[in-house]
Amino acid sequence: MIKLEIDISKASTFIDPSEWQSIEEEVIRQHKTLLTGTGKGNDFLGWLRLPSTFPGDLIKRIREDAERIKKVSKIYLVIGIGGSYLGARAVIEALSHNFPSLYSENESPQVLFAGNNLGEDYHSDLLGILDEYAYSVAVISKSGTTTEPAIAFRLVKEHLKKKYSSTDFTERIIAITDASKGVLKELADKEGYQTYIIPDDIGGRYSVLTPVGLLPIAIAGFDIEHLLKGAREMQEHLFSAVSPGSNPAITYAAIRNALYRKGKRIEILVNYQPNLFYFTEWWKQLFGESEGKDNKGIYPSGANFTTDLHSLGQFIQEGTRDIFETVLSVEHPRKELRIPSKEQDEDGLNYLSGKRISEVNDKAELGTRLAHIEGGVPNIRISVPEINEETLGQLIYFFEFACALSGYTLGVNPFDQPGVEAYKKKMFTLLGKPGQ
Ligand code: PA5
Repeated sequence: MIKLEIDISKASTFIDPSEWQSIEEEVIRQHKTLLTGTGKGNDFLGWLRLPSTFPGDLIKRIREDAERIKKVSKIYLVIGIGGSYLGARAVIEALSHNFPSLYSENESPQVLFAGNNLGEDYHSDLLGILDEYAYSVAVISKSGTTTEPAIAFRLVKEHLKKKYSSTDFTERIIAITDASKGVLKELADKEGYQTYIIPDDIGGRYSVLTPVGLLPIAIAGFDIEHLLKGAREMQEHLFSAVSPGSNPAITYAAIRNALYRKGKRIEILVNYQPNLFYFTEWWKQLFGESEGKDNKGIYPSGANFTTDLHSLGQFIQEGTRDIFETVLSVEHPRKELRIPSKEQDEDGLNYLSGKRISEVNDKAELGTRLAHIEGGVPNIRISVPEINEETLGQLIYFFEFACALSGYTLGVNPFDQPGVEAYKKKMFTLLGKPGQ
């Protein structure tokens, strides 16, 4: 059963009903294009049926590796950039304690990330931390040639070699990469690291439900079978529901494109839970790389409320009117905490005594929606009852599917990213890379 709901009543008022009907019909046609594999980039549709076809022996292998790694590691280092780390980070942070490094009951290794930036201080600090703790590494790169993770891996490999014996060294590295191409694959074969394959027909930003995301998530102690189960439930629903209003991915793709055609060029994904920060980062990459091309696209942006209501809130309320918001709303927190009552009401908060923090958060969410709508910002609400592996699996698959439909409706290939090469070419020339 799908647990996700979408409410567009506060956005559809910005669209003419006849326009809405025609765009919804257009997205329903794109739904057929996607399922029949007849659209642009159709050699990158491996993610589409992945939840329902995921091999049982691969789940078993990931779980066994995770158990082995947990026994010998306090830290699990994931080296990768873009789609090669954002999905794992999004799920792990959404499910983890908010202060994982200080939380004494953590039984699983702490997952750290590298290779997603070129900060010298970041990498120096990281190597210092790796001196102190037992650790293992996943180096993840589909192409096997991306500069940022390659530099981080070179540094970490040297460190591992010094810290561990030669057998222990190779056993602590897993490479997740292409089946046959790329420097990383060659290195793994030469040096004997265990490998997992990223299927040819799954692009980086659609790869969280492959070993790219599943191995780190399992090592962090979370249930990958439930994650896949959630994705499978969402797949079944999104494949079969085609009548207007029955398919949340069609609705989301249609309302985004309708608002875009009305001049709303920026979408802000808003969350009210700090540990969804990286979910938003994952979503930004998914939509940004999929849609921003051919001089078209909705700019995907993120905000963390109520924090950012005290920074971006002013702009959203009264700045340029080319924004719409999508609120990712979680109905029930995992824990319960009430506001205490005080005999002397010195801080004037007794009107909230006994209320849960989440009740205040919910009112902040509703109040903000109403204020922003009044300010001319259409508002879409996507809600789930709570955050757990199953609902995250549903959300991930929902956004992947909706992104593909939305990209097709926009008229772009949602599965390529030619623009990512431009900065690399300039950087390589400046660095004097041979052959540039
Ligand atoms: O979605 C994508 O394809 C990209 O963001 C890649 O994930 C990113 O550029 C990293 O590429 P690679 O995994 O080849 O190192």
